[in-house]
Amino acid sequence: MSDPSEQKILILDFGSQYTQLIARRVREASVYSEIVDTMIPAVEIAAQNVAGIILSGGPASVHEEDAPGCDPAIFDLGIPILGICYGLQWATSHLGGTVKRSGSREYGQATLTVKKPDNPLFAEVPETSKVWMSHADEVVEAAPGFEVVASSDSVPFAAVCNPERRIWGVQFHPEVVHTPHGTQIIHNFARTICGCPGDWTAARFVEIATRKVRETVGADQVILGLSGGVDSSVAAALIHRAIGDQLHCVYVDNGVMRHKESDQLREIFAKHLKMNIQMVDAGKAFLDRLAGVSEPEQKRKIIGSYFVEVFREAAASVPNARFLAQGTTYPDVIESSGIGKHADNIKSHHNVGGLPAELGFDELVEPLRMLFKDEVRAIGEELGLPREMVWRQPFPGPGLAVRILGEVTPDRVALLQKADYIVLEEMKSANWYYKVWQSFAVLLPVQTVGVMGDCRTYENAVALRVVQSNDGMTADWVQLPHELLGRISTRIINEVRGINRVVYDITSKPPGTIEWE
Ligand code: XMP
Repeated sequence: MSDPSEQKILILDFGSQYTQLIARRVREASVYSEIVDTMIPAVEIAAQNVAGIILSGGPASVHEEDAPGCDPAIFDLGIPILGICYGLQWATSHLGGTVKRSGSREYGQATLTVKKPDNPLFAEVPETSKVWMSHADEVVEAAPGFEVVASSDSVPFAAVCNPERRIWGVQFHPEVVHTPHGTQIIHNFARTICGCPGDWTAARFVEIATRKVRETVGADQVILGLSGGVDSSVAAALIHRAIGDQLHCVYVDNGVMRHKESDQLREIFAKHLKMNIQMVDAGKAFLDRLAGVSEPEQKRKIIGSYFVEVFREAAASVPNARFLAQGTTYPDVIESSGIGKHADNIKSHHNVGGLPAELGFDELVEPLRMLFKDEVRAIGEELGLPREMVWRQPFPGPGLAVRILGEVTPDRVALLQKADYIVLEEMKSANWYYKVWQSFAVLLPVQTVGVMGDCRTYENAVALRVVQSNDGMTADWVQLPHELLGRISTRIINEVRGINRVVYDITSKPPGTIEWE
C-alpha cells in the first residue's frame, strides 16, 4: 500500500531498538514515515516524494571495520537530514568530523542546554530540559560547516547543525518518552524543517487506502479470514468500505473460541455492518482431532493445519476469488523484510500473522501493512467499529487450547469458557479490561481438595493471568486491587461447577511467558 507519490519521511534503520518509535513519533506529527534499509540508493530516494531523512541509532561503532553506513550521495539530495545517535556519529565521521571511541556507555537522563534557541529544531523547547542518552562513542569534533546547537554537561556536541546543507544531528534520543520534549523536536523536524503539511490522518488514510483497494481488486472477489482480532476486523471493515459485497469473510469456529465470540462477530459484521460472512462451525471436528493430545506444540499443529483445510474448503465456494486479504501490520512487515538486520538481537515471536502460502491465492490485499497497531485502532474507530472490537485484548490463534493445560476436551473447554467469561465481565465492570494488555484464566491439569457447604470437593484449579505489556515481547504482572481479585475468585468458584480453586500468576515475562500453554 506504499505509494511513491505519498509525501513521507524516510527512516534509515541502523538497528536501533527505537527505530519503530521514531517512525511512530513522525506519524504522530501527522506526517507519513517509512523505515527502509540503510543501503537504499540515493537515486531511489530522489525518485520518491521524500521530504526528510532520519538516520536512526544503532548498536555499532563507526570505528568497527564493517560499520554500517548509507549511500553518501544522500547528503547531496538537498533533503533535510536528522541523524540520531549512531546516525549523527556516522554522518559526522563521513563528513570529516571526529568520533571518539569509548569503551563505556552513558545511559540515562541528562540535562540539555540549548545554545542556539533560534534553531528551528528546538522551537518551543525550553532552554534547559531532560533528554535520554544511550551511547558509547561520542562526537568530539564536529564536521566542517557544523555548529553546536545544544550541549549537556558531559556531551558538548549533544545537538549539531549544518544550516547550509540542512543536516542536523542529536546524540540523545528524542523518540523515547524519557525525553519529554522529544515529540516537539521530531515535530519541528518533520513539520517546520521538512515542511510537511501534517495531513496524515485516519480519515485521509481511509480515503487513499479504499481507492487503492478498488484499483487493485477491480471486478474480482476477495476472501478474508476473520479471526475476531483487531487487525483482521479493521482490514475487513476497510476493504468492505472499498468494495462492498466483493469481499467475502470466512470465520472458522475452531471449538476453542471464547464464550459468545461467534455470536458477537455475527452481530457486528453480518447484522450491523452487513458484510458477507461465512461462519463455519467446525468446533466438533477440531475437538475430535485434539482428543488425547496434551503436548502444546502438537495442539498448535493440529489446529493450524486443520484450519487451512477448513478455510480452503470455505474459500472454494466463492467463485472468482482471486485475492486473499490479510490484516498484516507494519511490525510484521519489518520483521519479515530483513530491515533491522543491523539490530543486535532479532526478535521473533508467534504474533506475526498471515495465512500460509498453501492457501493458493496469487495475490494479497493487505491494506494495513504500513500501519502500527495504534494507527490500526484509529482506522477502526474512523470506520465506526465498536470500541470493544477496536480495543479488544490480543487472543492467540489456537485459542483456549493454549490455556487448557493437558488434554482439550469439550467439558474442559466449557469449564474454561465460563471462567474466562467471568474474568472478562469483572475486568470490564471494574474498568480494568482496557487498561491491561491481557487478562484471562488458565485451566490447570490438577485437581485439589476443597470444601463446599459441608461437602468435600476434589475439583479443577484455574490460574488468573493479568499482564501489562507494550508489544507482548516483555510483560509485567498487574497488581490488580485485592477486592477485584477476590470478586473474580468468588464468582468463578460459586458459578462454575467443577472449579474449586483460583490462583493468581505473579510471574513477569521474562522469565515467564504470557500464555501458559
Ligand atoms: P507468549 O505466551 O509467547 O505470548 O508470551 C506473547 C503474545 O503472543 C500471543 N500469542 C499468540 N498470538 N497466535 C497469535 O496470534 C498465536 O499462536 C499466539 N500464541 C501466543 C499471546 O497471547 C501474547 O499476547
